[in-house]
Amino acid sequence: GIISSYSYQYQGFWHNPVHLHGIINFQKHYEPRENDIFLATAPKSGTTWLRAILYALINRKTYPPNDPNHPLLSKNSHSLIPPFELLKPSEYDSVCNSSDPSTRIFGTHCAFGSLPESITDIAKSSNRKIIYLCRDIKDTFISNFHFANKANLRPSPISLEDAFDLYCKGISAGGPIWNHILGYWKESLEKPDKVLFMRYEEMKSEPHFQLRRLAHFLGKPFSQEEENLCLVDQIISLCSFDVMSKLEVNKTGKGKQLISTGALFRKGVVGDWKNILTADMASRLDQITEEKFRGSGLSL
Ligand code: PPS
Repeated sequence: GIISSYSYQYQGFWHNPVHLHGIINFQKHYEPRENDIFLATAPKSGTTWLRAILYALINRKTYPPNDPNHPLLSKNSHSLIPPFELLKPSEYDSVCNSSDPSTRIFGTHCAFGSLPESITDIAKSSNRKIIYLCRDIKDTFISNFHFANKANLRPSPISLEDAFDLYCKGISAGGPIWNHILGYWKESLEKPDKVLFMRYEEMKSEPHFQLRRLAHFLGKPFSQEEENLCLVDQIISLCSFDVMSKLEVNKTGKGKQLISTGALFRKGVVGDWKNILTADMASRLDQITEEKFRGSGLSL
């Protein structure tokens, strides 16, 4: 059903019309390739960051992370790893962002249940892999709130209180966020070799471990020689908030929907919700999260 000119609900999740159109196209027209990789996130969970890391990791032979001409220094990670929602079907084939031609890397905010069957059905999905990144719900909400204001995504500005109410009701881009996270979480428990479940907070607190874990999951672990060359360190610093947010392309560039790339970089820290949410708001969100995740083995 339609809630406003801005949001539509489809297969249980809320989308803006552009994304919805893109998801339906992808369901109809995606033709799998053996080693396709999907990076799935709810909006504002650290997509821009993990896209950069994944790109640097997969292409480390072609572009050593300390290369002064590394593509990540002149291109925003969203243009290197496009969200399939913003591609025309005729563009799927030309996605070419991996040194291995049988691999394309797609980003998406799509819920697990709305991905094409050729990705989710294990019998059909050969070597295809999904990486899911989530983030503390309170921080994700705050990041969303700032982004929507900055990028003028809303028909008119909305107060923190109203945005919070909608978020709690599950009405947010890609929301309800809890269902989004649970969909991938359950799959990662059942098929750990197919779906890797990652957290923004862990990427922050133990980036080396998480990067090695990602490389291992993709079947591309760092060799001893690469370890000796400190490639792990180099990728982490290349993709750090400090480096990325200061690049010209990430300050003044325009993304596909004419959103300034600068809106993708704000603070990049854990726990900023403490500066904005009241204690009541925080405990209301925590309570919803606890209820929704009860019995799933997941806590955020
Ligand atoms: S989007 O629009 O869904 O792609 O946005 P997304 O990238 O998921 O979320 C944006 C938040 O991620 C922070 N960010 C980073 N954190 C750490 N390291 C790096 N390199 C990085 N790049 C972006 C960004 O600042 C947003 O979080 P907040 O809390 O708003 O700062």
